[in-house]
Amino acid sequence: MDRLAINIGKLELKNPVMTASGTFGYGKEYSDFIDLSRIGGIFVKGTTIRERQGNDYPRMAETPYGMLNAVGLQNKGVDYFVSNIYPEIKDIDTNIIVNVSGSTIEDYVECTEKLVGLDKIPAIELNISCPNVKEGGMAFGVCPDMAGEVTEAVRKVWDKTLIVKLSPNVTDITEIAKAVEGVGADAVSLINTLLGMAVDINSKRPVLSTVTGGLSGPCVKPVALRMVWQTYNAVKIPVIGMGGISCWQDAIEFILAGSSAIQIGTHNFVDPSISVKVVDGIAEYLDKHNISSIKELVGALKM
Ligand SMILES: Cc1cc2nc3c(=O)[nH]c(=O)nc-3n(C[C@H](O)[C@H](O)[C@H](O)COP(=O)(O)O)c2cc1C
Repeated sequence: MDRLAINIGKLELKNPVMTASGTFGYGKEYSDFIDLSRIGGIFVKGTTIRERQGNDYPRMAETPYGMLNAVGLQNKGVDYFVSNIYPEIKDIDTNIIVNVSGSTIEDYVECTEKLVGLDKIPAIELNISCPNVKEGGMAFGVCPDMAGEVTEAVRKVWDKTLIVKLSPNVTDITEIAKAVEGVGADAVSLINTLLGMAVDINSKRPVLSTVTGGLSGPCVKPVALRMVWQTYNAVKIPVIGMGGISCWQDAIEFILAGSSAIQIGTHNFVDPSISVKVVDGIAEYLDKHNISSIKELVGALKM
């Protein structure tokens, strides 16, 4: 299976298929459905310096070919993660990557510092793109200077692989990607959810308590793919693509457009074993096309 292996910074992936933050719990919740050691990595739920209750209900809405969520980074905080969750997941035979979220630069730095001593966390993903928190969150991801400042501050305390997760809710995503590359990000991941809204015509109210929320699922795939391709052409660091991937063919599209690896999010709710099916599908594609390494496919889009 070595032909599926690929590195992102110092992070060694046995294959390029990973699960996206907020859609796969802490991995262990899915262990009845799949052999977790078969996937390249698991991005755990957004983790913050302090516990967060998340937003009021309703905070989910179904849409044609996707969903809106406004969970608002509900989690028990990084100290709880370190003492209670990490011991339960550290021996899963895949990469466990913590999605670090926050409202201020200090929040991001302090949260990261608490993870430094955890041997089995080889990478963090800095979530500067959450549309569902009142302060900070996405604000960092929509301004190149702020994205650079928070990345630079975290880079000073984190030697292992640093992935920065970008927001699609911007005019030019490549400006943000270049800003974080310039201050030492090892990779960028994209896209987080697209800001959206739904209306209940009977109550005449917004469906979500927060009025707006993050759109994900197959409906965002063309936008995500376009942004991956633009970013791949703008930076030298690896791009991790996601947004609406629901089959192995989608994953190949993202890899051809420039993704060194991919993440699967919303589709885990539809088919909890999708990630392993995507690994198998990519392997069959390599066989069929006589390709000896996945690396040959990254950005191999013919123009
Ligand atoms: C219910 C839900 C919760 C999410 N929570 C997080 C989160 O905590 N941190 C984060 O960076 N992204 C979060 N995301 C965004 C996903 O990781 C992913 O970027 C996005 O959904 C696009 O991929 P998809 O279309 O495959 O779901 C969440 C998405 C959903 C649907």
